[in-house]
Amino acid sequence: MSLKIIFFDAKPYDESSFNNVNLKFGFELSYFKEHLSINNVMLTKGMDVACIFVNAVVDKQVINQLVANGVKLIALRCAGFNNVDLNAAKDRIKVVRVPAYSPYAVAEHTLALMLTLNRKIHKAYNRTREGNFALNGLMGFDMHGKTAGIIGTGKIAKILIKTLRSMGMKVLAFDVYPDFEFAKQNEIEYTTLDNLYKNSDIISLHCPLNKDTEYIINENAIAKMKDGVMIINTGRGKLIKTSALIQGLKSKKIGAAGLDVYEEESAYFFEDRSNRVMDDDVLARLLSFNNVIVTSHQAFFTKEALENIALTTMQNIQDFNDNKVLVNEVSI
Ligand code: NAI
Repeated sequence: MSLKIIFFDAKPYDESSFNNVNLKFGFELSYFKEHLSINNVMLTKGMDVACIFVNAVVDKQVINQLVANGVKLIALRCAGFNNVDLNAAKDRIKVVRVPAYSPYAVAEHTLALMLTLNRKIHKAYNRTREGNFALNGLMGFDMHGKTAGIIGTGKIAKILIKTLRSMGMKVLAFDVYPDFEFAKQNEIEYTTLDNLYKNSDIISLHCPLNKDTEYIINENAIAKMKDGVMIINTGRGKLIKTSALIQGLKSKKIGAAGLDVYEEESAYFFEDRSNRVMDDDVLARLLSFNNVIVTSHQAFFTKEALENIALTTMQNIQDFNDNKVLVNEVSI
């Protein structure tokens, strides 16, 4: 009998890429558009696998219910797994993820945010469409010769760093597990967070969200940064304390912010909410700054990444079904 997989948070593009890859696997797929939560976990009854995405809430209560419903595997179709209570899952239900599907996609989107904010392409786009060809207020800076501070130097950051280096930027990096060989090859310097804050013109976040990195960018960190610093977050929303970011933007300490993720994103991101009044005052405030760009957790969103996500997710599930070693298992 073929495995029954229920997809939560399923969008038309997910259905399309998974249906396509499933031609090879032949699983029984059903799609559900909401995030997995305690309110809809009953839908997993009789399913073998729950396939979830970044904003599912998989706490102890949900895991208890998944186990009671007979679900044997949680298949994350993303890299981050901060939304799953691994303690509650331990020895009761397996958890797999897609550790890398296109680090290029995220690195390229990060660069797009930097370049757009610096050269004010978002403003220029609107201006010229209105017949306004003035340059006032659009001045940027040469990134060549400036310093980028990169927090977390894993797969995504390494691609970004190589690109920034090719543009003539200096790079200061911080990682709990520094890769000194990479640093030597690419002529970058690992340093302390304080030194990175003090000397970086642009700071970009590429570490996972965990108890050590939650709110790593807070009032204290911002106070140590250069005046006018640009902050980019394509990591996870809770790496930044949004209230501190807003304060920094208001005081002009922060010159620009590019956010692909937001700490309370789950109510808005990935959905069309354009016909409703926005009830998140913090998000509304962020969107009111002309030096802030918010994108809707879209850094991963390329054709190649979606294909890789579908393929790796299905392979993870197939390996589970075949009792093979789960190379992409997450556990504690
Ligand atoms: P990775 O696992 O290759 O690299 C993460 C790096 O962060 C590692 O070098 C690790 O040593 C370092 N790190 C861990 N704890 C740290 C700490 N306390 N301080 C500094 N560095 C620390 O991960 P990858 O693939 O580069 O992804 C990075 C993050 O990007 C993911 O954790 C995920 O949250 C986010 N992401 C966002 C996407 C988007 O669409 N916006 C898509 C994919 C990932």
